[in-house]
This record gives sequence, structure tokens and C-alpha cells, in this order.
Amino acid sequence: MRTDTGQVIRLADYSPADFVLERTDLTFELDPRSTKVEARLIFHRRPGVAADAPLVLDGDELSLSGLLIDQAEAEASRYTVTPDRLEIRDLPEESPFEITVVTIIDPESNTQLMGLYRTNGVYCTQCEAEGFRRITYFPDRPDVLSPFTITIIAEKAGNPLLLSNGNFLGGGNYDEGRHFAAWFDPHPKPSYLFALVAGDLGVVEDTFTTASGNEVALKIYVEHGNEPRAAYAMDALKRSMKWDEERFGREYDLNIFQIVAVSDFNMGAMENKGLNVFNDKYVLADPETATDADYANIEAIIAHEYFHNWTGNRITCRDWFQLCLKEGLTVYRDHEFSADQRSRAVKRIAEVRHLKAEQFAEDSGPLAHPVRPETYREINNFYTTTVYEKGSEVTRMIATLLGDDGFRKGMDLYFERHDGEAATVEDFVKSFEDATGRDLSQFKLWYSQAGTPLVTVSTAYDAAARTFTLSLEQMVPATPGQSAKQPMHIPLKFALIGENGGEIAPTAVSGGEVSGDVLHLTERSQTFTFTEVPDRPVLSLNRGFSAPINLSFDQSGADLAHIARHDSDLFARWQALSDLALPVLNKAANDARDGKVVSVDPALVSALIETLANDKLEPAFRAQALSLASEADIARELGGNNNPDAIHAGRNAVLKAVAEKGFSTFERLYKELAPKGVFAPDAAGAGRRALRNVALTYLAHAEESPARAAEAFAEADNMTELAHALTVLAHRFPEADETLAALAAFATRFDTNPLVLDKWFSIQATIPGEAALARVEALMKDPRFNAQNPNRVRALVGTFAFANPTGFNRVDGAGYRLLADQILAIDPRNPQLAARLLTAMRSWRSLEPVRAEAAKAALGKITGAKQLSADVADIVERMLK
Ligand code: PHE
Ligand code: ZN
Repeated sequence: MRTDTGQVIRLADYSPADFVLERTDLTFELDPRSTKVEARLIFHRRPGVAADAPLVLDGDELSLSGLLIDQAEAEASRYTVTPDRLEIRDLPEESPFEITVVTIIDPESNTQLMGLYRTNGVYCTQCEAEGFRRITYFPDRPDVLSPFTITIIAEKAGNPLLLSNGNFLGGGNYDEGRHFAAWFDPHPKPSYLFALVAGDLGVVEDTFTTASGNEVALKIYVEHGNEPRAAYAMDALKRSMKWDEERFGREYDLNIFQIVAVSDFNMGAMENKGLNVFNDKYVLADPETATDADYANIEAIIAHEYFHNWTGNRITCRDWFQLCLKEGLTVYRDHEFSADQRSRAVKRIAEVRHLKAEQFAEDSGPLAHPVRPETYREINNFYTTTVYEKGSEVTRMIATLLGDDGFRKGMDLYFERHDGEAATVEDFVKSFEDATGRDLSQFKLWYSQAGTPLVTVSTAYDAAARTFTLSLEQMVPATPGQSAKQPMHIPLKFALIGENGGEIAPTAVSGGEVSGDVLHLTERSQTFTFTEVPDRPVLSLNRGFSAPINLSFDQSGADLAHIARHDSDLFARWQALSDLALPVLNKAANDARDGKVVSVDPALVSALIETLANDKLEPAFRAQALSLASEADIARELGGNNNPDAIHAGRNAVLKAVAEKGFSTFERLYKELAPKGVFAPDAAGAGRRALRNVALTYLAHAEESPARAAEAFAEADNMTELAHALTVLAHRFPEADETLAALAAFATRFDTNPLVLDKWFSIQATIPGEAALARVEALMKDPRFNAQNPNRVRALVGTFAFANPTGFNRVDGAGYRLLADQILAIDPRNPQLAARLLTAMRSWRSLEPVRAEAAKAALGKITGAKQLSADVADIVERMLK
């Protein structure tokens, strides 16, 4: 483990490397305990660099076993080496020169899952961000790019497959019992995109013909026996390849594209050039074992990694501060892909819910940082929802500002200018400015100012003058290291809705720029005046969530209901319904806290039931509309002094009121939506299942017997309904015999499928209430649990901490202590995983004082530990600042 040095890296300190890497040749002699890596690197000195400048290579826990300069063994006086650094001096005057580095590494003992490691008997690498330096000494930074030639030598037995990036060159027998394979990747790439996989896996094969007629071999490797479960991923891959050609004009550029699914992985997946490595959770699916959410995730992540081929690989990042350049942009691309494959409005609703739950939470707590940070201590900790999801929203705003054609022109120019380069956010924005002539200098603040802007809205209608005025004021809250903020350029999509539900087209507007349906808020406060408005309009603002902001808009219940009923933007209808519900949920939480009877506004109940019963609306939309804000969402809205028990009780009272009033509609839908015919994981089928599941949830809140959920569990013929029935049983009737029987039956049926057992762990880890802690502790001792596997740990410990507000935030602090102990146990083995789990406590300051004290004490226990990784030290210190 790299222990904390407290060292801070700054964007302002960037300077290019002294030496240009022309070529990289790697030879691996694989052995589980002792793998020999020989790296032959051809460098030349960058013009202007002093002749005596040393070559400094990065390492991490390495030991050098050989060093050659121009093929002659280097004298000891010419270099200095430590496990994390190799400095070579007295370099040849002749340029280019060749450096050969030999290291011996131990994949089997690599529990960090960075560098070369073993998973289920397979050799696998993970190099982003700084894992390559655990393989060999190297200029391990994203702006050093070169073509790679790779030779892999391994025992034939156990390793029939020897895979790396690029095109296959050839292979054959090497010596007694060993064979080799060679690969060449002609596209210059940084080390973080290197990958190697060797082992014995099953394969699913297909082909794709690009728009220019090149045939690409597609291969997905999975554990033997899992081949049929890779069919959906293959289909998603082909759709992604086609979509990127049609939407962005981007073709694939090698003759083979490979995906490997592994069971031990710290993240979702990795875009290594031509050889993506995936967490198996995001490849494997069939109706018996995968939910609709699993299918949607697989589709999105397959697309995401594939899209990185252009946004990330062909154009990479100059330094890690530019991470959003590839991640924010690629998330935007995968969101657009999914929107085209499914229902756009429903997809947008799900995205915004996720954005608010994760990114808004991060942005309002101690871990808030800009989309492009300016300093970091441990880059692993910046693979955040701010870089990814807010980064995507910033890209979406550029598209909103420029329109579809302008956006496409800017993207084309970006690809044309920077293909083969390591670029910056400035390069990206400049491409849009130059392609369209639009000035984006104020807009760029979105990359540098952290915090979710708050826009306060007030409106007035003057019937005599026929004018409608809209006053807006923006405020960007202070965030760590940033107290004073400048006003941002906020694009707000809007509509004025008339009494009959139709849109009023505004004739003339003054007070600022309004282009089409986009209003540009650029000043701290600004008043727009619309003239010739015949009747009092209802304002629908920030339609489609065009800007990632909070709105403070005291809109009447009647106006919100009008939008919910009439807006032609389905997203805005959902937004209006949830704006209607939030104050009711907040009040319910406060009533519960104060020991009052919870009252529920009947106007909300009827608006929800009206939406529910409206068969003209697609089921997936209705399911979203009826899924109330989560307990964590309500806590965020309340803003401070939160009591998770009260929020839970209040929310449940609202659910019950809706369930009782809408009982017959829920029952009708539950029956009508029962599965018919063969299962298909498409959007329409998923929507019907989602609404049916919502109906079951509400029915269970109105009923005192688990019978209906038990029957649903017994009858389900797909995982979406089976897992949901089990969730309803476990969460609503945790002690019932039916629940215990169902939990046991589920575990027996899926005994040999760890990914399905993860659902079983998660469902139990999220049972509300105090007893969750003991349940989690018992499950950690279950033989089906495996503390070494990140997916298992996230499913049980992670889900408990992130998604069980009442269980985790026990008033006695035992939940926090359990997490702290787990973090200290995991940290020496896998610091990235430990640091990620710890972020579950990022909102601890908004808890009521007793819980906040207990949370602080648990964080104190972590800081007090003798040795911490850089990852955990960085997070815990920021959380306590
Ligand atoms: N670059 C990967 C992605 O988003 C994420 C990742 C980061 C994976 C670091 C592993 C390690 O697509
Ligand atoms: Zn990515």
C-alpha cells in the first residue's frame, strides 16, 4: 500500500515530460508468483531540454532486476532506484536511445487490483490511473504516448488465451510447455490504457462491419459456462458501434475489439484500447438472473467503454486534472445513446434522480470539488460523481447552448484538431467556440467553480399591460477552498403554459438573451420581461433539467399541478409532481420528529393517483412519478439537523396515504401488468415491470399481510419481479415466516451465482431499522460472503452504509463504528475500495447533533489509525476539515 505522504499535486505546476517516448516493447514471462517484465523503451530528448537532464521513471512497490542503456548493462553510478522511482543519468548524447528495464512482480499477492493481478486464476491488469507503475518503471503519465508491442509468454496449461491491446501479430510454441502471443497497437497511447489478460476463458464471437467496410472481430470472454449470459452485452456492443458512427461519425480503428469479464474489479469497467476489462456484473445477464436495471446498466457501460475509444483513447487527457474531458464527455455520450435506445424522458428522469442523489450530495458536503479540480493528493479519489455526472451535465449544457448542429460541428473540430493527442478542457471548449463563434468564457466557470448554484425565481403578470416578468437571482454556495464565486452562465429551458394547457409563444423579450426555448441567465440577478402575453401564464422552468441547479421557486400547488397535467415535456411533468411532493414529505418528516400525527396533503395524493391511472402515459413514466423521493433525498432537502428515523416514518406515512386512496388502481394495474408471453429486456417490458413493482410496493403499504408479496415471489418468472417481491417481503414484513422462507429459497436457488447472491446481501442490508446492523454482521460471517471480493463487500457493507439510512445511522453510532472497522480492515488490502466506502459518510454534518457526534467519533477512529493509505487519509481528512 502506498502510505500517505500528504503531498499535493497542482494543476498549475504542469510541465511536459523532458523525454519523448517513441516506442514501447514489453515482454511478459507470466508466473503467478514471479512474473518477469522486460520493457524496452525508445526515447528522445525534447528539444530545449538540458543535455544533462536525468530521465525519471515512476514505480510503485517495484524492485529492479536489470537496467540496460542502449543494450549495455548500466553501471551503478548512472542510476538511482527506489521502489517508486528510477532516475537514470549520463544518458547517451545520440538521440534516440534505448532503455531496457527488467522487473519481477508477484501478481498473486496483488490485492489492490491495480497493476497485474490474479482473479479466479486469470491474469489481469488494471492501469488507470497509476497502475502501470506497479508493472515496470515507466513515465506513467497520460501525456506520454507511444505505440506498444507486447509479447506474452506463459504456461500453455491454464493459459490458452494470451490477450493484449491492438491487433494480433502471431503466436506459437515458445519452449517446453510454454507458448507465446504477440500484439501490436499502432495507435499511440499512454500507459494507463495498457492491458493484458491471460488464462482460460470461454468466448462469444461476432463481427461488425464499419461504415467504411472494415470487418472487426468482436469477442467477449467470460468464465466457461457463462457464454449464453454474454449475448446481451454483445448486442449492446454492436448497437454502440453503429450509434457512434451515425451520431458522431466515429468508426472503430482496429481489426479486433475484445471485452473480458472478471470477477474481482474495483470499478465498473475499463476502456483499455481494443481490450476492455469489465466487472462481470456489467456483462453477464439472462432473464433468470438479471433485473431490468442490470440490463440497462450493461447497455450503458458497454457503450460507455466503447465510446471511450474516441473520447479518451484517440484523444486522451494531458494530465489527471483533465479527467472530466474523457469521463464527463463519455458519460454524456452514453446517456444520449441510452436515450435513443429507450424512452428519452424516462431516461432523463432516472439520470436526474441519480445526479441529485449522488452529485448534489457530494457538492454540498466536505468532499465538494470542481468538475476540473485544481489540486489532489490521491487521484483515485477523483473518479467521482462530480467529474462523471456533473461533467456530463456541463457537456449537455454546451449542447443546449449551441444546438445539435453547433454541438456536432464543435465535436468534429475537436476530433480533427486533437486526434492522437493528450488534450485539455481548454482545447475542448475552444473547439466549440471556434466551430460556432459563440463565446464560452463565462460558461467555463462550470469547470472551475464547485457547488450547486441556487436560482431564486419570482414572477409577476400584469394583465393590463399584458406583460409577464421573471426575476432570477443566482447564488453559488461556498465550497471547500472556494468562498467567493462569480455568476455563472446558466441555460434554462422554459415554456409559458396557458390556461388551456397549450404553450404561449412569447413575442418579445427584454432583459437578457432568450434563444428559442432557452433563457440565458448570466448576471447575478436579472429580470426578463415578456410582452404581449394575453393571459397569466404558468412558467415551466429548467425543463429537461437543462442546468444542474437547485431552484427556489414558490410555485403554487395549482400551478405545479397544471404543469404536471399539461407540459409537453414529460420530464417537466415529473419534476412538477416531485416539487409538489417534496414539501409534503418534508412536513411529514418534521411531524414525525415532533411526535405529531402525519397529515398528507390530499391535493398531492390525487395528483399522484391521477397520473397513476392515466393509461395514456407510458408505464415507465408512471412508475417514476409514483416513486417518491428517497429518504436521502428528503434529508438533503431538509438540509440539516436530520433525523433519519423521522424521515423514514414520515415518508412511510405518505406512502400509506397514497396506497390507501389509490388501492383499487394499484390493484387493477398489478393484475393488468402481469407478464404475458416471452420475457424481453426491452424498454417497454421494463416499464411494465417497473409499474407493476411500484403497485406491489404500495399495496404492501396498505395491507397488513405478506400474502400478496409472497405470492408474487412464488410466481415471478424474471429477476426484476422476483428480487422486488423479495425486497417488499424483507423490508415491509422482515419477521414474517413468508419472508424467512423466501430468503432461504432465494439463497438455495442461486447458491452458485455470486452476482445474484449480491442482490440477496443487498436486500437484507437495506431492511430499515436498528436490527439491520446485527443482520449485516451475521451475513459477513455467511460462507457465501467473501471479504476479498469487492462486489461482495459493496453489496453488503457498501449498501448498508449508502442505502440504509435508518439502519446505518443508528442513534448509538454502532453503524458508523462497523463501517470504520471495515475500512481499517480493508485499507491495507485494497485502499481504493476502502476510500470509496468511506464516502458513504460524506453528509455526516447534516445529521442531528447526537448522530453527528457519533459519526465524528468514528471518523476520528480512522484518522487515529497507525497507518493509512493515501486514499483513505485524503478522504477522512477532507471530511473532518
Ligand atoms: N475509466 C473507467 C471508466 O469510466 C473507470 C475506471 C477508473 C476503471 C479507474 C478503473 C480504474 O470508464
Ligand atoms: Zn469512463
